[in-house]
Amino acid sequence: TAPAPLQFAVTKNLAAKTTAQREQILQDPGFGTHFTDHMVDVCWSERGGWHRPRVQPYGPISLDPAAAVLHYAQEIFEGIKAYRHADGGVYTFRPQENARRLQRSARRMALPELPEEYFLQSLRELIAVDGAWVPSAPDQSLYLRPFMFAKEAFLGVRPAKKVAYYVIASPAASYFAGGVKPVKIWLSQDYQRAAKGGTGAAKTGGNYAASLLPQSEAYAQGCDQVVFLDSDGNIEELGGMNILFVKKDGTLVTPSSDSILDGITRNSILDLARDRGLTVETRAVSLAEWRDGVASGDITEVFACGTAAVVTPIGALKGAGFEDEQPTGELALSLREELTDIQYGRREDTRGWLYRL
Ligand code: PLP
Ligand code: COI
Repeated sequence: TAPAPLQFAVTKNLAAKTTAQREQILQDPGFGTHFTDHMVDVCWSERGGWHRPRVQPYGPISLDPAAAVLHYAQEIFEGIKAYRHADGGVYTFRPQENARRLQRSARRMALPELPEEYFLQSLRELIAVDGAWVPSAPDQSLYLRPFMFAKEAFLGVRPAKKVAYYVIASPAASYFAGGVKPVKIWLSQDYQRAAKGGTGAAKTGGNYAASLLPQSEAYAQGCDQVVFLDSDGNIEELGGMNILFVKKDGTLVTPSSDSILDGITRNSILDLARDRGLTVETRAVSLAEWRDGVASGDITEVFACGTAAVVTPIGALKGAGFEDEQPTGELALSLREELTDIQYGRREDTRGWLYRL
């Protein structure tokens, strides 16, 4: 049974950006550099459960220097977008999936599970005050970042008894500076992102911290992103995106692994592909299968997907001692178009994926 709704206390930001300032930011929002005027903040304690739900002015958080998150990284987050439709309404995409994934991440990181209804409510509350920040320009959106962390001041290593949940929001254009043009991927051989039994399937900060050094290696190699392998040499995912392969016969293949993020964009793309009558395989994909498949023409497209990056074709794979051009085709872009048409309300949502905020 759903818990009773939280009663949010709303404090308006008296120093909120003016309409002119906001519109100027929305002209060229970039990704993740500008933030809206408010944020959601809910407390949790072992004794009191979820309490003190607030919408307050966006601003610095005061933390005790001994707050457990600063020492042991007990933290999880989500990424989800709000889209402006032509009728002016603001919608988000499959938020129940993000709510459930946040709960799975919470279980893995020994954090409390936020009820799905509270998650949905937290997004609605933020949009109720900051809805004007949802851009209406093509391909733009408001990126919502719910996150939860251990705030108890205690240096012993155990799950924190005091936790904070926040939602902030940031207007977003394309994640990659080049827009939808194919990206170049660096194959990380020295570093892994996650291990069996580790935290790879949780959306937790440490996974991203671990990806930064290989990501710098990628930049140094002239690449945009890293692809990670598991210890058996199978493909896992990129630092912040899942990966899919298109075979000559139209089959879509994507790695199955307990140590990658269960991407909502990926799952939605697989559903769209199935509904087009394409075969979908979720199974181990070795590096050899990828490289040989490209060389023989059996693999006709490779692309990455995620909330921030949407669908982005992969144009090259570079590793120690080799660089393979990747074939590009029509399927990735046509799936991208179908997905974004649904998200932006340009095509009928027959699957109940949209949620009005
Ligand atoms: N893999 C990682 C490591 C990610 O950070 C993301 C982004 O959220 C994804 C995959 C794609 O997940 P989703 O499509 O749910 O955004
Ligand atoms: C997202 O796509 O929402 C992510 O969290 C990925 C991150 C690299 C921005």
